Amino acid sequence: MHLERMDKILASRTQYSRKDAKKLIWQGRVQHNGHRAASPDAKVDLDADTLELDGKPLLLRKHLYLMMNKPAGVLSAARDPKQPTVLDLVPEEYRRSGLFPAGRLDKDTEGFVLVTDDGDFAHRILSPKRHVPKTYRAKIDGPLTEQMIKGFAEGVTLEDGVLCRPAQLLVLEEGEQPLCQVVLTQGMYHQVKRMFLAFDRRVLWLKRTAIGGLLLDEALKPGETREILDKEIKMLLGKI
Ligand code: URA
Repeated sequence: MHLERMDKILASRTQYSRKDAKKLIWQGRVQHNGHRAASPDAKVDLDADTLELDGKPLLLRKHLYLMMNKPAGVLSAARDPKQPTVLDLVPEEYRRSGLFPAGRLDKDTEGFVLVTDDGDFAHRILSPKRHVPKTYRAKIDGPLTEQMIKGFAEGVTLEDGVLCRPAQLLVLEEGEQPLCQVVLTQGMYHQVKRMFLAFDRRVLWLKRTAIGGLLLDEALKPGETREILDKEIKMLLGKI
């Protein structure tokens, strides 16, 4: 059982302030377990109760975990005054205070961004000490050699002298602009691009396809989001 005050829950699960949340309750626009809610200080059980605002159910779960397929051109920051961010793409039903992207992709990188309001969880996924693998697909501007595969496996030295942890490079499609898979267990700025640059190659297209053992859902079109299921969260945390 997780009990919380009704006005606090309303304010955190909607765009309304705590003051406005109280007004909504007094105005009779909130339903608690199917009945008109009467008092902002009533306690709501996040695990068992239902709460509706103007007839629309609110997601009561203490924390929310979202899988987004980020399109290119969108920032993986919380808010930006000028450019669209992943939070702007979160569907209405999932909006609540405290959401943020757990980890960053470059503006031109596509794919899996995990959006949550659970700081401890994000820390576990991102902590440099835990080495949670992140998997990427990349299109490269020139052939991939055995020397590069070996170099990735041994640890690439970046242009600033930093030595990367060993990474997996797998060629998926050969050719002038080959397609490959890269698995990293750390997350430095522009890391995939800089690792290829160390071999005089440029990344033409980059997409994150998995975080730990959790694969980006292929049913998600660019810009779409779905909730990550409890069993998927457990699976992710169980392995780190
Ligand atoms: N590596 C990069 O170069 N860019 C990303 O967005 C993620 C990993």
